[in-house]
Amino acid sequence: MILALAGSSTCAACHKVEYTSQIETSMAHAMEPVAGCIILKQHAVLTFRDGVYHYRIERQGDQSLYSVTDGKNTVTVPLEYAFGLGKAGQTYVFELDGKMYESRVSFYAALNGLDLTTGAANLQPGNLREAAGRLMDRRGAEDCFGCHSTSATREHLQNPESLTPGVTCEHCHGSALAHVEGFRQGKPAAMKNLSALTTEELSDFCGQCHRTWAQIAADGPHDINNVRFQPYRLANSKCYDPSDKRISCVVCHNVHQEVVGSDSFYDRKCLACHASAKHCAVSTQNCVSCHMPKLELPGAHYKFTDHQIRIVRANASYPP
Ligand code: HEC
Ligand code: HEC
Ligand code: HEC
Ligand code: HEC
Ligand code: HEC
Ligand code: HEC
Ligand code: HEC
Repeated sequence: MILALAGSSTCAACHKVEYTSQIETSMAHAMEPVAGCIILKQHAVLTFRDGVYHYRIERQGDQSLYSVTDGKNTVTVPLEYAFGLGKAGQTYVFELDGKMYESRVSFYAALNGLDLTTGAANLQPGNLREAAGRLMDRRGAEDCFGCHSTSATREHLQNPESLTPGVTCEHCHGSALAHVEGFRQGKPAAMKNLSALTTEELSDFCGQCHRTWAQIAADGPHDINNVRFQPYRLANSKCYDPSDKRISCVVCHNVHQEVVGSDSFYDRKCLACHASAKHCAVSTQNCVSCHMPKLELPGAHYKFTDHQIRIVRANASYPP
């Protein structure tokens, strides 16, 4: 049975503050059907070439047709889902002969155009189908949708049409159906209280998608490619204490709002522990600009913020 969700719009009446800003965040737009995809609407034609393969994505009404040709043969399919709001990039998922594929090319904001999907550069396609995309096994497809949308059960994941695109309220808080129905019947059911989680528990909670410390420690990568896995990076810094709330994800990020881009915003978070700025001989402000450097992730055309808070020495190598 598919466990029903109340839907984030039902929360608006009582939790207006969280609702109004959360629905605008990148997380809430982490996945969307191609019909509503803004990037593809704004780019009527996108092209890219890799060796003998030519790629083209062309908008036609509510559809975007993806064609890949090697000069002799051509595959043309409608794209189904756009993954990522596109601050860094956007990757597409399409169906071919009843199977799901991840597009071999992605859109990158920094290029305002296409390039190979991060990681795809290492894989040389053996045929046209492989040039079009990477076949996702069922587990891979479920993982993909699981992290980029709101689902309650495995049944949802097996039927992408039943998913709510993007990470919205009930992915994190659990189904609110009983909570909402309860108010109508005068017996409100309480929601799980996420603010009760410890710093470590919360890190693992966010880590179900942002990857946990344990996952990266065991499986890697142990190089610059782990810069995008914040729970791992943060736990490796000297500042991290699993039971100290002052270093929890939600101290620096209100998940109901888009991430704050100003360096000075984070100063008081640091100073909560480094009480007097005399600890730092170099500066009394914009701490993160030096101690949480933004590093380019190869192939992603994007700089991620290194959550391993540290002293960055000139020419020092990346601590993996
Ligand atoms: C009819 C009003 C109403 C609606 C609709 C409603 N809530 Fe609530 N919610 C409340 C009230 C009042 C509380 C505080 C009382 C309580 O904890 O039971 C609350 C508490 C919560 C809490 C716990 C906060 C804490 O710190 O313990 C969460 C989480 C929550 N709601 C999420 C949701 C979500 C998600 C939705 C939509 C799917 C939703 N609520 C819909 C009224 C509502
Ligand atoms: C269900 C999976 C999932 C969970 C759980 C999750 N995230 Fe995310 N988060 C994502 C995805 C996917 C993106 C990328 C969105 C995009 O840009 O398309 C993202 C982006 C972000 C961003 C950057 C963009 C923004 O929206 O401001 C921040 C910050 C963030 N997450 C913090 C958190 C924190 C903190 C938690 C834990 C409280 C958390 N996330 C839990 C999937 C998740
Ligand atoms: C374990 C959870 C997880 C899985 C599985 C996953 N993602 Fe993500 N994805 C994330 C998180 C978290 C982010 C945000 C942080 C980052 O960019 O690393 C993200 C970011 C992205 C971005 C960049 C978003 C932006 O706004 O720039 C794209 C594109 C993307 N994912 C596509 C995919 C596709 C396609 C799949 C399936 C083949 C997939 N992801 C599988 C968690 C996941
Ligand atoms: C990415 C995960 C995530 C999403 C999505 C999310 N929340 Fe939350 N929410 C949290 C966490 C974590 C906390 C605890 C924050 C803290 O301790 O500072 C929280 C706290 C709350 C609270 C309690 C606030 C308080 O001050 O006690 C309410 C109410 C709430 N969320 C409602 C919502 C609603 C409504 C939505 C959708 C519009 C939503 N949340 C989406 C993770 C999420
Ligand atoms: C001490 C403050 C701090 C803590 C704690 C923190 N972050 Fe961040 N985070 C930042 C800063 C600063 C940025 C970059 C903001 C900007 O300039 O856009 C950022 C950016 C992000 C982004 C956007 C992608 C990127 O690399 O720029 C994600 C996702 C994210 N944080 C997730 C997390 C998660 C998950 C946790 C908990 C494991 C966490 N953060 C804990 C300060 C913090
Ligand atoms: C929960 C408390 C806490 C928070 C919040 C915190 N730190 Fe720390 N930080 C520590 C502790 C404890 C150490 C280790 C001190 C020691 O070893 O003498 C440390 C060490 C450091 C170091 C030295 C690291 C090294 O490589 O030697 C720097 C730099 C630093 N913190 C900067 C920051 C900045 C910048 C922020 C905000 C983004 C921050 N810290 C937030 C507790 C914290
Ligand atoms: C312009 C870059 C820059 C800024 C901004 C900056 N720092 Fe530093 N910080 C450094 C450097 C470089 C060192 C190493 C100094 C040395 O040992 O030579 C350092 C050292 C530290 C240390 C370790 C001190 C010790 O003796 O081990 C801490 C803690 C620290 N900074 C915290 C902060 C905090 C908190 C802020 C913001 C209020 C901040 N820093 C702002 C560059 C900066």
